[in-house]
Amino acid sequence: MSTQPSSIKEYIADCARLVDAELDRLVPPESTPPESIHKAMRYSLFAGGKRIRPVLCIAAAHAAVGHEVAGVVPVACSLELIHTYSLIHDDLPALDNDDLRRGRPTCHKVFGEAMAILAGDALLTFAFEVLARQGNAKLVEELASAAGTVGGMIAGQVHDIEGEHLAPSAALLEQIHRAKTGALLKASVRMGGLLANASERKLAALSRYGSHIGLAFQIVDDILDVVQSSEALGKTAGKDAAQHKITFPAVYGLEESRKMAELERQRAHEALSEFGDSAQRLRELADLIVERQA
Ligand code: IPE
Ligand code: IPE
Ligand code: MG
Ligand code: MG
Ligand code: MG
Repeated sequence: MSTQPSSIKEYIADCARLVDAELDRLVPPESTPPESIHKAMRYSLFAGGKRIRPVLCIAAAHAAVGHEVAGVVPVACSLELIHTYSLIHDDLPALDNDDLRRGRPTCHKVFGEAMAILAGDALLTFAFEVLARQGNAKLVEELASAAGTVGGMIAGQVHDIEGEHLAPSAALLEQIHRAKTGALLKASVRMGGLLANASERKLAALSRYGSHIGLAFQIVDDILDVVQSSEALGKTAGKDAAQHKITFPAVYGLEESRKMAELERQRAHEALSEFGDSAQRLRELADLIVERQA
């Protein structure tokens, strides 16, 4: 990645290739006993996710210091391992009960519920094994708390599930989205900054950027659930309304939701105002997160 790729799509593809190669190297092969768990882990991990969290981490490290940062790829991989675990568990019958993920039958549909639970557990555990090898306790703490129960991903999933039985409100909506999706996206950016030893000031700016793109990402996820096809998304469309989820379109309607995502995009750009060209990829990623169609 020493030569500047011409488009953000190419940049993402380059980062994703690095991340996928490292994941393939790190995760035990399917032939390692017990084979079934390694097959299930790899099935979900290599099903074709967008890899947006690893890309954000790599781009944030670059933004902080203006060059590639050693060790960033395994750190980026730890984020994808946590994210894929969260998807496997999100799809389980006890949670969203989904049959389709990343264009394939969900993990529990193929390997059974017990193995899907264990594959999620295994990816979660393995994420911290990979991250611990970097020898940076701040990164471990950042990832654990972003995935955790106080404002983190699990907190958000709890509010999301419990919200199915509650009247939608703006306050509950923001609480759910900031936690279930925003926390890990923000951590992706912050972990890039932490690894690069960014100054406090730069880390604070990256955190603000991460909060805005984190919220924008889930607003757009909610919009796409309403307006896109399952085929385009690679996951079941229209499920949020069917399951009485508290979403941006449910609370504000589609048009207002689009405006709110746009506002988050602008705020993300403002957060990067003190960065120069080194943050160009982060700016492009904010745009892509809001403009994406799948
Ligand atoms: C889906 O995340 C779940 C949410 C947090 C909205 P992504 O849209 O990043 O899913 P993949 O990784 O590309 O499959
Ligand atoms: C899931 O949110 C967020 C996670 C922590 C996995 P959603 O339930 O909206 O994600 P999708 O739409 O199934 O990907
Ligand atoms: Mg869900
Ligand atoms: Mg879901
Ligand atoms: Mg969704």
